[in-house]
Amino acid sequence: MIKTPSKKILIVTGSDYTDQVYQAFVDARSLGHRLYLLSDGSFEPKPGIFAKHFTYDLRKTKEVLDYMKNQPDTFDAVTIKTSEWLTPLTALLAKQYGCIGNDPKVAFNCRSKYHMRRELEKAGVSIPKFRLCRNFDELKSAIDEIGIPCVAKPVGGNASYGTFMVRHKEDLEVLRNNYEKSIDYLKKLAVAHDVFAFSREEMDLIGIHDHVDMVTDYLVEEFMEGPEISADSLTQDGRTTIMGVADQIRMRPPYFVQLAEKMPYVCPAKKQKEIANLVSKTVSAMNIQNSPAHTEIIFTSEGPKIVEIGCRIGGDNIHDSIFQTTGYNLMYEAIMIALGEKRNYDIQLKCHTAMEYLLPDRRGTVGKIRVPQAVRENPDITEISIECAAGDQVEVPPTSFIFLGYVCAKGGTPAEAQKNLKSALSQISINIQ
Ligand SMILES: Nc1ncnc2c1ncn2[C@@H]1O[C@H](COP(=O)(O)OP(=O)(O)OP(=O)(O)O)[C@@H](O)[C@H]1O
Ligand SMILES: [Mg+2]
Repeated sequence: MIKTPSKKILIVTGSDYTDQVYQAFVDARSLGHRLYLLSDGSFEPKPGIFAKHFTYDLRKTKEVLDYMKNQPDTFDAVTIKTSEWLTPLTALLAKQYGCIGNDPKVAFNCRSKYHMRRELEKAGVSIPKFRLCRNFDELKSAIDEIGIPCVAKPVGGNASYGTFMVRHKEDLEVLRNNYEKSIDYLKKLAVAHDVFAFSREEMDLIGIHDHVDMVTDYLVEEFMEGPEISADSLTQDGRTTIMGVADQIRMRPPYFVQLAEKMPYVCPAKKQKEIANLVSKTVSAMNIQNSPAHTEIIFTSEGPKIVEIGCRIGGDNIHDSIFQTTGYNLMYEAIMIALGEKRNYDIQLKCHTAMEYLLPDRRGTVGKIRVPQAVRENPDITEISIECAAGDQVEVPPTSFIFLGYVCAKGGTPAEAQKNLKSALSQISINIQ
């Protein structure tokens, strides 16, 4: 038997992983490869997986590149799971080591919603009208130009942080408050959490000359009305395969925080084909050649339009939901693509999943969190993620856009998955005092 020569794989991350994701690393190791981790040092990875754990303040893109350049190690592959804000850094590292990956400019174009819109517009992909706004006055004139209803969102946001709708003229009265509160929130996240800005020097390094501020620049977009889905795909050598399509349920406007999700999106074959074609077109418009991608689509009365695309695996439950519904481990597939291993996929539906976010319904302090052991051990409950702790201060939009956690369940039919989810949710509680 010919043994695969051992390769050195660098994984970049902003947070720790689930056991299912660690399994991808175990499987890559069992092929003889060595894994390395680059994180901000905010967690201790599982022992015995990574040959070395590099830690650095990952908000400082240029410094991280220099730090890694000064290490004795070089790598044969560099990849990431979900951390949206680290996709340009991952691409720059891949380039630094001459590895397969997204071009840094491609990753930046996905990261900045303004650059993304321009790339999609150039390629003739269906998108809403949009305007870039660098301050409140520009926001107001963009709303005049685009018209009401419209949506305002930060160019560098994620998880719908700071995104709000102007539904009617009366909303203009709270526009300044919405905008200023959202920017305050984004500024806090830029220091403490995950909304990373890039310095001018870093944007030049990536090859971006029309600079944007990820934290304070906004887009105003025409409001797209209709149901929303997301599609996770894998692209290898420019060929795209859909791995899972999810039905997204979002908060009622003016805010868009996601409430729940079902997978797969149940629809006729013709519509599935339409989704696959649109995703392929979007992926190639962004020039994504070898990478996972997460694309969001709204079906408007004028046809489907793109909300956004990320050159990474979808966040939160998506990894688990695709694993449950297809058996494919997207982290493992991302590693194989980064290694240049030729992949073929045979997607057979294994089950349905249903997920619901745990959201604060008011301002307060997190009190008792209750997750019964029986729910944790229930095989139909595939993921329980609690992302708050007793004593945490919580708020609702536009002051804060956080969620407290989420629960994901599976079943043989959509109704069964939903029933299992509701039963688990009825036993889980997070008190807000
Ligand atoms: N032009 C638009 N028309 C209608 N809804 C929109 C528009 N732009 C954004 N939205 C809504 O706001 C949500 C968040 O926007 P977007 O996906 O661009 O930002 P995000 O912060 O990266 O989001 P998330 O991480 O929640 O997917 C979308 O999923 C959609 O529901
Ligand atoms: Mg989105």
